[in-house]
Amino acid sequence: MKILITGANGMLAKEVREKFEQGNELTITDVAELDITDEKAVFDFVKNLKPEYIINCAAFTAVDKAEDCYELADKINGDGPTNLAKAAKNVGAKLVHISTDYVFGGDLDLSKDYKEDDEKTPVTVYGITKLHGEQGIEKNMDEYYIFRTAWLYGVGGNNFVKTMTKLGSTRDEINVVSDQHGSPTYAKDLTEIIYQAIQKKIPYGVYHATNQGYTTWYEFTKEILEKQGIQCKVNPVTTEEYIEMMKITQAKRPFNSQLSKNKLLEQGIEIPEWKDGLKRYFEESC
Ligand SMILES: NC(=O)c1ccc[n+]([C@@H]2O[C@H](COP(=O)([O-])OP(=O)(O)OC[C@H]3O[C@@H](n4cnc5c(N)ncnc54)[C@H](O)[C@@H]3O)[C@@H](O)[C@H]2O)c1
Repeated sequence: MKILITGANGMLAKEVREKFEQGNELTITDVAELDITDEKAVFDFVKNLKPEYIINCAAFTAVDKAEDCYELADKINGDGPTNLAKAAKNVGAKLVHISTDYVFGGDLDLSKDYKEDDEKTPVTVYGITKLHGEQGIEKNMDEYYIFRTAWLYGVGGNNFVKTMTKLGSTRDEINVVSDQHGSPTYAKDLTEIIYQAIQKKIPYGVYHATNQGYTTWYEFTKEILEKQGIQCKVNPVTTEEYIEMMKITQAKRPFNSQLSKNKLLEQGIEIPEWKDGLKRYFEESC
């Protein structure tokens, strides 16, 4: 298959490139080769290449920074996917796009998880702009997959696991937020979901795609340190306490990032538990 990967230098893209390398003809681009905010460039590039699939890994992912950069974030997260959708439609290509739990408000009762069609009430610039991207795709084409993920970590990027490993190794105790709930997601497992979805030709549409099981950043940190035999006391703190202690301002974080995967599971897609993903991350990153 001829596949165009955009944002190909990112954390998720690293895994996507590796997984799809064999048996496919990949065209790899990041902002230097193809800026997805440039509508004409995207349209012409795709028209020339005529890929069967476009996998868009490009995004403005700095959640806190986005609060001060609405215009740029919206160009990359909103206009970018819209440009790709129009260009894909023009040549009959299918589009795979990655979105986020931040399209939801994050205040759902913790006994529940978000379904794909639940009301979208993003409260951050990042979330608002990512929702614009979803809407731009839905408006312009039918043959797309949008995978909403959360708490993503992978070997090819700076991530929460690396940060906590470093902090845990250099401090006697650390404070970690215990009132935000979600699913840590190994980029390799998300890539496998994307791969299976394409292979199985599951119906087009929006799917929630994280590892299975729900936890908190606090429990996740304990698991990260325990698995590596790192001795460090981990103190659970609320988001409010954390912001106060660290003297920081940050974009609002969702308390409930729990995404239901039933729609994917009904398609026979296998989704590993988050602890299993973390175990393999350590095995594979050594
Ligand atoms: N990291 C997370 O925790 C997380 C959580 C939920 C969803 N997501 C989504 O998953 C996807 C992958 O995230 P990631 O962490 O691998 O991202 P990343 O930040 O590691 O990589 C993004 C890539 O996009 C490229 N890019 C930026 N602007 C571009 C432009 N105008 N044109 C072309 N390329 C451009 C960057 O150069 C970079 O290589 C994104 O859509 C992100 O919104 C990430």
